[in-house]
Amino acid sequence: MMSGNLVDLHYEESGQGTPLIFIHGFPMDHSNWKPLVPHFGMGVRLIFPDLRGYGASPVTAGVYSMSLLAADICRLMDKLHIERAALVGHSMGGYVSLSFAHQFPERLAGIGLVATRALPDAPEQRISRLAQADEVEKNGTGVVVEGMTPRLTSDVHLQAELKKLMRKADVRAVAGALRGMAERQDATPWLAEIHVPAVVIAGAKDVIVPLAVIKAIADGIPGSEWVEIEDADHMLMMEAPKETADALLRMVKRI
Ligand code: MLT
Repeated sequence: MMSGNLVDLHYEESGQGTPLIFIHGFPMDHSNWKPLVPHFGMGVRLIFPDLRGYGASPVTAGVYSMSLLAADICRLMDKLHIERAALVGHSMGGYVSLSFAHQFPERLAGIGLVATRALPDAPEQRISRLAQADEVEKNGTGVVVEGMTPRLTSDVHLQAELKKLMRKADVRAVAGALRGMAERQDATPWLAEIHVPAVVIAGAKDVIVPLAVIKAIADGIPGSEWVEIEDADHMLMMEAPKETADALLRMVKRI
C-alpha cells in the first residue's frame, strides 16, 4: 500500500458529468489526449493529469512503479472528491490503469485500455530497459526519444510534434518510469477481476504493442468491447480521435 510519498498531480479538465480520467503513456504528457476533446459531447467530465515527473507535475527521483503512479491518480480523485471514475490509459498509462483496477477496484467505474498490454516485460526486455535507464542518466534522454519517434506513428508531422514533447521529459522521470515498467507485475490474472464496463482499443498498425497482445486484454476482461482501428498506429487517440472517442463513449454509456 502506498502512503507518504504520493504527489499532487497537475491536471486540466473540461465538462461536467461522469468523470473520465485519461492517463498518458511514456514519456509524454496529458496533451496527447487533446485531439479527443471536441469529440466528446455533454455529460462527461474529462480530467487530464500529467503523471509524476511529466508535464507540469512534480518530478521525483527513484523508481516510478506502476502501483505508485496509480496511487497518485487515486490521490487526485480524493482531492477532487471523486468517489468513482472511469480510467482511460494509453500504453504505459494502461499499465497504470490496470494497477489501479487491481489496487482500488471500488474506485473504478469503467476502463478504457488503449494500445497497451497486461503482460510484463520479457526477461531480455527488462534487462534492456534497465540498461536504458542507466544510459539516460549518463547521457540524457536522446536515446529514448530517437528510438521511439519513428515507432509511435507513421505520420511524419505527428512524429515531429511528439519528438518535441518527449525532448521536454526530465531525465529522472524517464529513468524512473523505465525502471518502473521493467519491474511491473503481470496484470493478466487481474483482468478477470474487472467487473466494470471496459473497452480495449488498438491501432491495427501498432509496432510498439503487437495487436495480439492488446487483444489478449479484451479476451481476459469479461464483457469488454474490442475495437481495432484500421488506419492507426500506436498514437491512435491523435491519429484517429473520432473513432477512439466514440469507442470510449460506448463504454461510458454502459456505466
Ligand atoms: C508507451 O508508449 O507508454 C511505452 O512505449 C510503453 C512501453 O514502453 O512499454
